[in-house]
Amino acid sequence: MPSHEAGWAHADGALKGPSWLREPADPNALVPHLWSQTARKSDGVLEIGGVRVTDLVAEHGSPAYVLDEADFRGRARAFRDAFDDYDVFYAGKAFLCTEVARWVAEEGLCLDVCSAGELLVAQRAGFDMARVGYHGNNKTAAELARAVELGVGRIVVDSFHEVERLEALAAARGGADPRIRVMVRVTAGVEAHTHEYIATAHEDQKFGFSITSGDAFEAVRRILAAPGLELLGLHSHIGSQIFDSSGFEVAARRVLALHARVVSELDVVLPEMDLGGGFGIAYTTQDDPSQPGQLAGEMREIVARECRALGIAAPRLSIEPGRAIAGPSMCTVYSVGTVKEVALDGGARRSYVSVDGGMSDNIRTALYDADYSCTLAGRASTAAPRLSRVVGKHCEAGDVVVKDEFLPADVAPGDLLAVPGTGAYCRSMASNYNHALRPPVVAVRDGASRVIVRRETEDDLLATDVGGA
Ligand code: LLP
Repeated sequence: MPSHEAGWAHADGALKGPSWLREPADPNALVPHLWSQTARKSDGVLEIGGVRVTDLVAEHGSPAYVLDEADFRGRARAFRDAFDDYDVFYAGKAFLCTEVARWVAEEGLCLDVCSAGELLVAQRAGFDMARVGYHGNNKTAAELARAVELGVGRIVVDSFHEVERLEALAAARGGADPRIRVMVRVTAGVEAHTHEYIATAHEDQKFGFSITSGDAFEAVRRILAAPGLELLGLHSHIGSQIFDSSGFEVAARRVLALHARVVSELDVVLPEMDLGGGFGIAYTTQDDPSQPGQLAGEMREIVARECRALGIAAPRLSIEPGRAIAGPSMCTVYSVGTVKEVALDGGARRSYVSVDGGMSDNIRTALYDADYSCTLAGRASTAAPRLSRVVGKHCEAGDVVVKDEFLPADVAPGDLLAVPGTGAYCRSMASNYNHALRPPVVAVRDGASRVIVRRETEDDLLATDVGGA
């Protein structure tokens, strides 16, 4: 879409929608690859995990995140099976709650946490701490001490200050066994083709140690010199929502070159290496993601080729997919509250469909200019498709959930809309903006639904406000 100084909403051509958006022959039909595995429509009603969303909303209210358990487990298994010679860490930042942490464990994956809070959820779920990796660019001494005390399997070190904190922690333990197992997060200098805010491996950002500046080698040297620390290997994560494997290829080449240099110059064995997450998913018809099998094949080939060229044995590899497991497994169901036709320059009109959620349950459209799609979920319609914009109920013009979608022209208050692909970075980035109550996560499977994260209540909302009545 052409850019405009006032933003995408003002761009020329917005009324026809973006160039990738096609008017559907039937606006009731689902585009299967945007939806979780068990999603289907019968008589126009969206059904997930064998549960009709009309029944779901009658029981649990709206808005609600609906999590297709079979789909989540299936994607987790697909990664585990495709990468059977890797360790697969599910990146909990995409979405985490105790129930999901248990599914992750049951499907044989490890877990990547990036905060004390995520670690707490893993602990509560009884997740085997030896299979947890702990990330973060600013872990405090207390947080590190807690992770060590819990027996976290690997701490991914992100700064020299953190090396110092870990050295002190190791010294305080008096060299107790086992040593603290760490990886070094490096920036490979790759700018992955994704939104700027979610590209993390180019140099001018906060994560990791730069390979080119020599900081990464120095961090490795410091850790190897610390008696209480055990260096497992290097870690690289180049960004998120990436479709093109060339970014991984360049990163793997640079990280493996550093690995080879460490092995030869410092005469050590680095048994592991992590290539991070970032695998893209389909939000709209313009996205065409690779399947885990294809990704695994490409990554194996890249690593084998580079290791051959460097004359080194390949370390044991791990990856950290978050979005590609959680993203497609969830959709958000909203109720329509108002519909408004707005006149635009040139006499055209746009339909604004307001739902009972918005940027508090999905900030990604406002924050990253992300594209989503949606469907009328509670009934079939015979009305013609009309280009619509789905907006939330927040006090902000940028409170948009779906920028452009063809919805039946008779969408009206009381209708249900469902937005697919909201499993990653929606509930986990949800806020109480405007004192909204965050929606529940309802898991569906085999015709039954159960709440795994309950809806917030007014009491929750006031709980931290100590002003009193
Ligand atoms: N590993 C590390 C070290 C990461 O920083 C991340 C994501 C992942 C794994 C998982 O990446 P995934 O497979 O989910 O792409 N809030 C943004 C995404 C931020 C990603 C941060 N790091 C969004 O909504 O697009």
